[in-house]
Amino acid sequence: MKTVKVNASKSYNVLIGDRLLERLGEYVNEAVGKCRLCIVTDDKVDALYSECAERSLRSSGYETEKFVIKNGEASKNTTSLIALLEFLAENRFTRSDCIVALGGGVVGDLSGFAAGVYLRGIRFIQAPTTLLAAVDSSVGGKTAVDLEAGKNLAGVFHQPSLVLCDTRTLDTLDERIFSDGCAEVIKYAIINDKPMFERLKGGIKSDIERVIAECVAHKAEIVEKDEFDRGCRQLLNLGHTVGHAIELCSGLTVSHGSAVAIGTVIITRASVALGYTSEDELCQIISLFKSAGLPTDCPYSAEELFSAATADKKREGDSITLILPYGIGNCKPYKLPVSELCKFIRKGL
Ligand code: GLY
Repeated sequence: MKTVKVNASKSYNVLIGDRLLERLGEYVNEAVGKCRLCIVTDDKVDALYSECAERSLRSSGYETEKFVIKNGEASKNTTSLIALLEFLAENRFTRSDCIVALGGGVVGDLSGFAAGVYLRGIRFIQAPTTLLAAVDSSVGGKTAVDLEAGKNLAGVFHQPSLVLCDTRTLDTLDERIFSDGCAEVIKYAIINDKPMFERLKGGIKSDIERVIAECVAHKAEIVEKDEFDRGCRQLLNLGHTVGHAIELCSGLTVSHGSAVAIGTVIITRASVALGYTSEDELCQIISLFKSAGLPTDCPYSAEELFSAATADKKREGDSITLILPYGIGNCKPYKLPVSELCKFIRKGL
């Protein structure tokens, strides 16, 4: 098992290892002590892992309730949020109780938001069961639901009390969902870890515990410097502004990881056109995404992407900050007027 400590406004451990769900009760007890727990999960994960999690929690003396949403991004909305808040209230959860988010990014983001606002804030624990949630969304305290106008447009910063990642749960992931997480893994390497980028060329699955721990360590370092996303945390948005636009244009049928991969390629190609990075590095990035089973070609025009991207919350007044690769392992913020974004995207297509 590997442990990464996150020292944000609240300190907590990220535990990564095989069969950790079987010991969930023990670790929950160390992190939050005795309380009532509300497990939040989706129907797919419920069938696979709730029993194991509940057994472990029961044997550590926990009383649990369970709230199950339908699997998929379409559940990450205000209707699910309100339903979860009503469920917590109906079941008389108090300020000393705690939510356990058992699932991928949708479950984690929704649960974290509910925990952040229910009774003005209760504790929550992340038990990510997808690679994407393990390396990114479960760590760092960003929580959200989607609005009609775009992804993650409503949310709060609320740090978990513990993140417990049982790597065994990744064995049951569809290849496509695993690939989604690979996009975020490759993102960390492009941002600031060239040696990791070289290692990933040898495959991501073979040493998954180490890969997850390295990604989480990168994220922890960034979150500790800029928890509230005013400065260097924006580096984690590499490929995301265009990626979110792609998701929106597709009516959420293109997955987050696929969209981030395509978005990163567009940004890198624009960076090549501007003379900031080389064609060779772009080819290496495309080839690594492809080897992880991710798409790299964009089915939308610059105009379509521009119109979707301008609804993105990262826009600040008349300017927008993108994260630009100046080489693999060397990304920096790049601020440009919104009026120039369409032209910029066109360079990357
Ligand atoms: N997923 C990007 C962040 O946590 O800042």
